[in-house]
Amino acid sequence: THKIILDTDPGIDDAMAILFAEAHQDIELMALTTVFGNATIENGTRNALFLKEKFNCSYDVAQGASQPLERPPVGPTVIVHGETGFGHLHASEPQTAKADPRPAHQYIIDQLKAHPGEITLVAVGPLTNLALALQADPAITKLVKQVVIMGGAFGEHGHKGNVTPFAEANIHDDPHAADLVFTADWPVVIVGLDVTEESFFSSEYLDQLRDDAGEVGQFIHDVSRYYLEFYSEKIGLSGCHVHDPSAIAYVINPELFSLRLGPVRVVLDGCAEGMTLQKFTDRRHGYDEWEGKPKQSVAVDVDDASLLKLYRDTI
Ligand code: BDR
Ligand code: CA
Repeated sequence: THKIILDTDPGIDDAMAILFAEAHQDIELMALTTVFGNATIENGTRNALFLKEKFNCSYDVAQGASQPLERPPVGPTVIVHGETGFGHLHASEPQTAKADPRPAHQYIIDQLKAHPGEITLVAVGPLTNLALALQADPAITKLVKQVVIMGGAFGEHGHKGNVTPFAEANIHDDPHAADLVFTADWPVVIVGLDVTEESFFSSEYLDQLRDDAGEVGQFIHDVSRYYLEFYSEKIGLSGCHVHDPSAIAYVINPELFSLRLGPVRVVLDGCAEGMTLQKFTDRRHGYDEWEGKPKQSVAVDVDDASLLKLYRDTI
């Protein structure tokens, strides 16, 4: 089994990823560490605790960063995830579940030390908590099994973002944190929009989950209504892309993805703020900004039919 700590900004597709990880027998979901992003940190943490109680999950919850390392906060993505992060649903206050007293980055450091080489960090929100953990204890790079990230947009012929023409939301929310995480000497796999937008939950697929998958299927269906309204009104699609669950799918079955190796950097400001770049040829090397940076893996293709089947079978 894979022990994972899931760093998340729940979030509609975050909820889809959390329930996927919780349901799969090969994953031991140790904890959710929360971060600002789709919602405020308070709403994100309440959503994490709400799911824990609703579905009787045993994961810990540790609350993390409320704002980016350096850039001014962008603010919650109300148009995509609703006022409190779960669309039309509003998570009630938890009855008994409580967050761990430690901040998320300290929780991550402590768990990595307690289980050296065993934990996969999966991050599906802004990368602030991971960056804070690296700053507080750089030696954790040697304690992690791997780091799997949903974020960024790569593409050989021009980049395709979602919050700007060039940047994806999780990276744009905290570019400095992302650049630290990508250039640290630990094994990172980045699952960006190039592949998460290959997989699509159609409205029929989500109806089918509601009909076949009990309370969990019903919840995924209900929480996704607001998201589907956004997709239909703003993007003209009847369904939604499969962002955060794709990172969990990678942990379960990496063979579904093709990867490309090379150092990855983030544009920190200006008109391409939050843009992700990978250097994957040896042409004109010698730029200071790229020299000596570790090679990371970027997903460039996915078997989307198998991913959709894996998600459905698991839920
Ligand atoms: C990412 O941004 C958030 O809105 C989603 O939860 C996902 O993690 C997609 O760009
Ligand atoms: Ca997310």
